[in-house]
Amino acid sequence: MRTVKLAMIVIVAAAVVIALTFLAVRSPEIAAIPSGTAQKFNASLIKRGADLAALGDCNTCHTTESGKTFAGGRDIPTPFGTIYSTNITPDPETGIGSWSEEAFQRAMRTGVDRKGNYLYPAFPYDHFTLVSDNDNSALYAYLMTRTPVHAPARVNDLSFPYNIRPLLAAWDMLFLRQGPYSPDPSHDEEWNRGAYLVEGIGHCGACHTPRNALGAEKTHQTFAGGDAEGWHAFTINAASQAPIPWDADSLNAYLRQGWHGLHGVARGPMGPVVGNLATASDGDVKAIAVYVASLMKKSPEQQRKDGNSPLLSNNNTSGTGSKPQSAGSQTTAMAESPDDKGAVLYASACASCHDAGRPVPYGGINLALSTTVSADDPRNALRVILGGVPATSGARGPIMPGFSDTLTDEQVIALTQYIRTRFAQKPPWPNVRDQLKTIRTEAQASTSSTAR
Ligand code: HEC
Ligand code: HEC
Ligand code: HEC
Repeated sequence: MRTVKLAMIVIVAAAVVIALTFLAVRSPEIAAIPSGTAQKFNASLIKRGADLAALGDCNTCHTTESGKTFAGGRDIPTPFGTIYSTNITPDPETGIGSWSEEAFQRAMRTGVDRKGNYLYPAFPYDHFTLVSDNDNSALYAYLMTRTPVHAPARVNDLSFPYNIRPLLAAWDMLFLRQGPYSPDPSHDEEWNRGAYLVEGIGHCGACHTPRNALGAEKTHQTFAGGDAEGWHAFTINAASQAPIPWDADSLNAYLRQGWHGLHGVARGPMGPVVGNLATASDGDVKAIAVYVASLMKKSPEQQRKDGNSPLLSNNNTSGTGSKPQSAGSQTTAMAESPDDKGAVLYASACASCHDAGRPVPYGGINLALSTTVSADDPRNALRVILGGVPATSGARGPIMPGFSDTLTDEQVIALTQYIRTRFAQKPPWPNVRDQLKTIRTEAQASTSSTAR
């Protein structure tokens, strides 16, 4: 009896402690600014805010395909369900028109809204927390001077228990490392500027870093490659799978123009990112390139390994059981298709643009240079073959037709495995059939609705 009583006391005490902690960490409501208060901001502050908004892709997430800029409502798919972005125009009722600058600063730094509700990390405040107070002031000035749009938020479609916002307090305790950014004195100013932008407002890790079961980025695998709306966001650290190593110059060109002659074009969710970076200042894009190049720098040992076996990869088959083979033995390992079928298709449908030194816009890169073909994940290759490279994807220039209507599933698989083994000289991708099915199903769903 006594032990039961003791256990009860312990349980009740624990519950009280948890409840008190919740109350203690809960952020209070910040008073609404009275409607009709005209705030004055100077033009250069607003301009700086516009540049920062572009670096932070605020428009990309907060605007639907046919909707008004910043009015929210875009669906953000997550493993826990769909979260809809909110209206960040200065509409007092449905947007952030009643938010004081203090409330905005707090949302960016801690992921809590004006009323004190916890926000979901689909809003990348785990990165935005690094943004400086001054830059947040500029962003606030920019947003508060946009045209107000009346657009109520859509209700999120999350499963239990993820739909309980207060639980995010625990997420924040576990995963949020509050900023602002503090410079690393062992590096120069440009590198630090780049780190500030990449880790903070640019939130590159939101796509490029893999996430754990609770949706937080794995801090020990920074930039090791992640998921973005059904695309693979390539590895952009020293383990980069780009056949030709990136450097600050090529990164600068790619991030600025969405394309580089030795690396190809930025597609999928990377398209809007480079579209926005095209409007950023030269200095900022260069700083980003310098910082990312430093992350991608290979150790002498890695360089030697890569140098000894050009285009032959080492660790990409872990878990599949098969071993990488040399170029000569590739035909013996075609898991899902006979080599010649893919070769014939390639020669007739692809070679005229990819092998003939054809100029932009229709000339594609030699696929031996393509990260898409050498990466462990086949999704981007399938998406390009099916969907092509549309003229409007944010990449100014290159155009490739999509083959979703002209090629059967068997042909797509044969072709995909052919370019994989011939150009990357790596074993066939193990899971192409399933991935193809997912992408085809998704394409059917999106043509029969107007989701985005
Ligand atoms: C990756 C997508 C994404 C990007 C990029 C993004 N947001 Fe958001 N944002 C969201 C989502 C989703 C929510 C809603 C979160 C929720 O409901 O908990 C949100 C919420 C907000 C809120 C809270 C609004 C409210 O009414 O509660 C603010 C403020 C905000 N975002 C500002 C910004 C700014 C400024 C930028 C650019 C610097 C930005 N966001 C970029 C996805 C994004
Ligand atoms: C919304 C998700 C998203 C964000 C944010 C994002 N990326 Fe990407 N990134 C991708 C995807 C997806 C790809 C693959 C694109 C493709 O297949 O063409 C990619 C490709 C790249 C590549 C090409 C790598 C290679 O080897 O070909 C580089 C470099 C890159 N991103 C850098 C960045 C930097 C720097 C930032 C931050 C300023 C950033 N990305 C932000 C999704 C994202
Ligand atoms: C009309 C010309 C044209 C045809 C035909 C064509 N492509 Fe492309 N392809 C391009 C252009 C242009 C790009 C974008 C520039 C780049 O990235 O190489 C591209 C990009 C690609 C990429 C991404 C390369 C990268 O990493 O950036 C792959 C993979 C690819 N094509 C495969 C194919 C395959 C397979 C076929 C045949 C079914 C094909 N292409 C047919 C023009 C073409």
